Amino acid sequence: SKREKVEQILSEFRLKEEDLKKVMYRMQKEMDRGLKLETHKEASVKMLPTYVRSTPEGSEVGDFLSLDLGGTNFRVMLVKVGEGEEGQWKVKTKHQMYSIPEDAMTGTAEMLFDYISECISDFLDKHQMKHKKLPLGFTFSFPVRHEDIDKGILLNWTKGFKASGAEGNNVVGLLRDAIKRRGDFEMDVVAMVNDTVATMISCYYEDHRCEVGMIVGTGCNACYMEEMHNVELVEGNEGRMCVNTEWGAFGASGELDEFLLEYDRVVDETSLNPGQQLYEKIIGGKYMGEIVRLVLLKLVNENLLFNGEASEKLKTRGAFESRFVSQIESDCGDRKQIYNILTAFELLPTVTDCDIVRMACESVSTRAAQMCSAGLAGVINRMRESRSQDTLKITVGIDGSVYKLHPSFKDRFHTAVRQLTPGCDITFIQSEEGSGRGAALISAAACKMACMIG
Ligand code: BG6
Ligand code: GLC
Repeated sequence: SKREKVEQILSEFRLKEEDLKKVMYRMQKEMDRGLKLETHKEASVKMLPTYVRSTPEGSEVGDFLSLDLGGTNFRVMLVKVGEGEEGQWKVKTKHQMYSIPEDAMTGTAEMLFDYISECISDFLDKHQMKHKKLPLGFTFSFPVRHEDIDKGILLNWTKGFKASGAEGNNVVGLLRDAIKRRGDFEMDVVAMVNDTVATMISCYYEDHRCEVGMIVGTGCNACYMEEMHNVELVEGNEGRMCVNTEWGAFGASGELDEFLLEYDRVVDETSLNPGQQLYEKIIGGKYMGEIVRLVLLKLVNENLLFNGEASEKLKTRGAFESRFVSQIESDCGDRKQIYNILTAFELLPTVTDCDIVRMACESVSTRAAQMCSAGLAGVINRMRESRSQDTLKITVGIDGSVYKLHPSFKDRFHTAVRQLTPGCDITFIQSEEGSGRGAALISAAACKMACMIG
């Protein structure tokens, strides 16, 4: 029957527990290679040291400006860091969202960073703060090889960015130059962090067991506290350092080949970075809707959906956004929501069509949650082994639109992670405005360090 044929096609997305274990072990192997001096160059998972350490030296108090670049929105924030009874407290006092025009994302680095400093300038004008030279924390959500907390080169763009002349350059330098070029305000850029790191830090102040940060949004990535003696690229053996895994790049050496479907290959080939970030392309919100769209087209071609006819809009690359996947799976059962989305695609769905579309969404998003669980389980099992604890009690701070907005991603993800991590007691906490607050807290600590040294 029709339903069986549909199920047959969608069954390709199903992963068995042994598949997930396979992905987990391979991920762990790449993580290990990424940390080692001898193999880090060829490892697909870069394991980038962040210079964020386990023993903060206290922190400064005062106003900090945070920038957040690399998620759905570019944000500028003013954060107050103060000292309370339980360590620091922080309040986001003002914030403004800016959308980055396509040509700034894919033009030159100068255009992109000029636009960013234009936004900062606008923010300072609005709040009459142009005269102040504030310390600035920059959440920059791309792979950066750091030399210190305020210095690091962009290895490669990911997600939708492709501005030329940035790869291989010090990102903080690009920002400082743009601010100088503009010349109507001054900033003291004190720290640059990945969004996973900012997320972890912001949750750490609520829960000191938070030693993992994760994003499932436009892209997908995680960081965690690694023993310094395993971080071979940085000298010293004491304590721990946060490592940005950049696990989204997993798969570049063929580790995922046996799991990639025809849809994944099309998504990859038509992306800005073919052959790269293959793990991320199975999970991230930048790609989820597009995978679903390709599945729907396949079902149409097999004459199993929409009476064998797709609309022009459904045939348009990128038109099926990931938020539609969340909305379709949020339908309460009367199919109204699904129907509305599909009619906006100039389709005339039957009840069965609505059900099939929902099944397609579920298949794609469930696979994403499970794939993602293999990565996190790899990190957490590694931490448990290196700390040789019978039970590892740990908290994971998470942010990102897929995690937050999809109705069942979280539950499926938590269940799968717990299945893969016996002997671990995991708490998940959702970060609110993590990047802004996290970047401010790190900046505050960095300022303190600078004061002590300088
Ligand atoms: C935001 C964080 O809440 O989540 C960003 O502040 C992060 O730093 C983002 O990049 C990730 O989610 P998305 O869905 O916007 O990519
Ligand atoms: C991409 C980036 C990574 C970031 C993630 C989530 O994978 O390379 O740095 O953390 O997206 O935004």
